[in-house]
Amino acid sequence: MSNREVGPHTRGESLFVADIPPPRGLLHAAVLASPVPHGRVVRLDTSPAAALEGVACVLTAADIPGANQIGGIVQDEPLLADGQVHYVGQPIVAVIATTPHAAREAAAAIGLEIEEEPAIFDPRQAAAAGNLIVPTRTLALGNVDAAWESCDQVVEGSATSGGQEHLYLETQSALAVPLESGRVKIFSATQAPTAVQRITARVLDLPMNAVEVEVARLGGAFGGKEDQATPWAVIAALGALKLGVPVRTLLSRGEDMRMTGKRHPYSSDFKIGLRADGTILAYQATYYQNAGAAADLSPAILERSLFHATGSYFVPNVRVTALSCRTNLPPFTAFRGFGAPQAMFVMEAAISKAARAMGIDRVDIQRHNLLSKGDTFPYGMRLAGGGARRAFEEVEARYDVAASRAAVQDFNGTHKLTKKGVAVMPVCFGISFTSTFLNQAAALVHIYTDGSVSVSTAAVEMGQGVNAKILAVAAHTLGVDPDRIRVETTSTLRVANTSPTAASSGADMNGAATEIACKSLLDRLRPVAADLLDKKVEAVAVAGDRILAGGKETELSWEDLVWTAYTRRINLSAQAHYATPRIHYDKETEQGEPFAYHVFGSAVVEVTVDCLRGTYKIDRVRVVHDGGRSLDPLVDLGQLEGGLVQGIGWVTMEELLFCDGRLLTDTLSTYKIPDILCTPKIEAHFLEVADEPAAVLRSKAIGEPPLMYGIGAYFAIEDACAAFRPDREPAFDAPMTPEKVLLFLHGEGSS
Ligand code: MOS
Repeated sequence: MSNREVGPHTRGESLFVADIPPPRGLLHAAVLASPVPHGRVVRLDTSPAAALEGVACVLTAADIPGANQIGGIVQDEPLLADGQVHYVGQPIVAVIATTPHAAREAAAAIGLEIEEEPAIFDPRQAAAAGNLIVPTRTLALGNVDAAWESCDQVVEGSATSGGQEHLYLETQSALAVPLESGRVKIFSATQAPTAVQRITARVLDLPMNAVEVEVARLGGAFGGKEDQATPWAVIAALGALKLGVPVRTLLSRGEDMRMTGKRHPYSSDFKIGLRADGTILAYQATYYQNAGAAADLSPAILERSLFHATGSYFVPNVRVTALSCRTNLPPFTAFRGFGAPQAMFVMEAAISKAARAMGIDRVDIQRHNLLSKGDTFPYGMRLAGGGARRAFEEVEARYDVAASRAAVQDFNGTHKLTKKGVAVMPVCFGISFTSTFLNQAAALVHIYTDGSVSVSTAAVEMGQGVNAKILAVAAHTLGVDPDRIRVETTSTLRVANTSPTAASSGADMNGAATEIACKSLLDRLRPVAADLLDKKVEAVAVAGDRILAGGKETELSWEDLVWTAYTRRINLSAQAHYATPRIHYDKETEQGEPFAYHVFGSAVVEVTVDCLRGTYKIDRVRVVHDGGRSLDPLVDLGQLEGGLVQGIGWVTMEELLFCDGRLLTDTLSTYKIPDILCTPKIEAHFLEVADEPAAVLRSKAIGEPPLMYGIGAYFAIEDACAAFRPDREPAFDAPMTPEKVLLFLHGEGSS
């Protein structure tokens, strides 16, 4: 079974927020954003905007009936700036007008004067000035200070990684429709319907039951709509309730790129100590997370960085420290991997530097230190299975990595201006929200009297195929044909208190809730079938729409069973709640068991660098991925390929450049993401038998882990560059753009 959205998408039938037929009286919102990174608003004159034709109203902080506060984890972010501005692109005024163009023209006509104040863009400078979002956090295992002495080799260094634009196809958007009695319904392009509901209620001073949020699907999100869809929905709702007509917000691509947050840039220091045989004895790192001007999800992302500090490796002595640094840039936010890629890049940089210092191969250090069953993570959890080692060994054997390395050396020996490189990248990714309370989901399943089935859950379909997986779970559990089942839109009326669809856990948790609901429906139907067939309840089952007794098909059909159950007044609706069992975490002691399980895999990445031009090609990526028993193999392959290529983009060509806090790379001509020509040949082998407990129907989460295979591209390019310039020390500065490659290959001294 494949993703059922593919057909409607390719035929252009799927509706996104911007495609919803305009309701009567629809108006459009646009915002006036701060043109400076930091300052005090000394004059704000909205009268020129209000006087323009087509303008229905002009909204400032003073027009907000409730709290002017959209912060989630930390309440530090106004919806509309009130006196102070903290980044270029921060909304100050919202204009509602008859057309999007009129609204934007009016916003531009507003008189605005800002007295600029000094701005900070660098996270280390922010930390030095004491500008932290939350207190510094440290995770520790063993005794790192005592361990250095026992090491034969200790190396220290720094690593930086850049941000990343989500570039979802569908830009931020929302449509708010006023309902009777002061209620509002919001069609929002959000991963977090309940967050939109909660914050709209807070800002508009309404109870949450006056706000309904519905999401049909998103045109991509990648984390960019976990928190940052909210302000656009709240602005639409604010306008709609003020004016009593529907209001839509829809960012242009340029607005979206300039005004919304991206993946956090990190600047980090590391120190690693090894024995002569390659055993890593100690690892220490400090992460300076560039959080931007507001907390957004930064503290949670910081936590996931800490939890993934040592990547796929066991290190007995660890101390990692993380600082979330407030700067004058748009608030950086969730992006596939959620802080883990940044930390894993630092670990791989440390291994790379150690290998160079010791004159041994990176891959030998990697292999030597892989996590084994029973190993302890710095957050106190023990690894349940041997998946890290198994995936790595399988990659080395299946794809003959040693032969690839030999071939690369041969090639480099006979080619002067073209060099090849190869790197292996292991991934170990913890599944569950690190905030334990978010690990809950719910489902509402109806069986209608004709035997068709309707499934609502908390999960938001964003192209990741969660609906296909939920449908597979329902079909499998009920035993009916998938064509009978419809997975509905996500609505806060049908499923309340939804956790965001994030942390790779949407299918796991909502699938599990669906399974529970379907099982309870079956438990009600089977006695009816047993009675009709004159059999024992245990002998009765549903499979392929047929009612079986003792494993044999009977003359009783699913439709007849459902109808009879209805006439006997059996409840054909079930609501179920799922809470991930066992997990817990204590932030005081920084110890616990925050993850339900881990996903493992390894990739081998091969590249060719043109040493005259600095350009490169990612030739081939071969992956062994521990996927468990897939609920939909085609969806999982798509997630693996998409995540991998997005990860390659992050460490190679995707470069965000800011000048005085203003994003220079705000078009697709200046911000390059991988296209089909940049996409390597990808070979993926899925390990189906997970050797540790996994999620619903023994499947494993797939959304985020494959992104981190892309990190291998950075080290493969570094490997090729080292063949051309063995004298130079690598800088560990991602993304490794062709420009940086050229400077490395032909620059002077160490970089
Ligand atoms: Mo995802 S980056 O946890 O929205």
